[in-house]
Amino acid sequence: MNKAIISFAISLVIGFGLGYLVFGVIMGDSDKQPQVAQTEPTDASSTTEKQDTEAVKETASVDEANILNSKGCLGCHAVDALGLEGGATGPDLSKAFTDVEGKHGKPIEEFLKEPTSAVMSGVIGGNPLTDEERTQVLDMLKQASEK
Ligand code: HEC
Repeated sequence: MNKAIISFAISLVIGFGLGYLVFGVIMGDSDKQPQVAQTEPTDASSTTEKQDTEAVKETASVDEANILNSKGCLGCHAVDALGLEGGATGPDLSKAFTDVEGKHGKPIEEFLKEPTSAVMSGVIGGNPLTDEERTQVLDMLKQASEK
């Protein structure tokens, strides 16, 4: 008897749970569908879509697809000369290409391999730049110093 009651109670709970889940999924879907249907026609107007993607591409090339961002440098450094905003933990790198040798006693290329300063030693020590990445960083900082 007891077993029957317990198993009845358990299947009741499971049944309710499943029903609730299925119901939620169906309701969730039917909630979403009208939204998709609404946004599709507006997206399809081709001119605005083109402009949008072009704008996204432009900002991406400056803000996201650059080595300083992908290596996390912008978390601590801004590069004003390139219009790159970043954290204020480290100095602005606009003039780093020309200034580092005077400030840190070695050319910037060497500095990026083996920094002489405390914080950057930790940064590079924990996540060294490959030769290619260092070249990309140097390219960008050179560009910045020439602006
Ligand atoms: C955790 C924060 C942090 C990150 C991330 C970081 N830096 Fe730095 N960086 C600093 C600080 C702070 C200094 C000042 C010197 C020091 O204390 O090490 C500095 C100094 C420098 C300098 C010397 C500039 C000067 O004028 O003294 C260069 C060049 C530099 N960083 C490049 C980079 C590059 C390239 C990256 C990305 C690979 C990077 N940093 C990532 C914090 C950071």
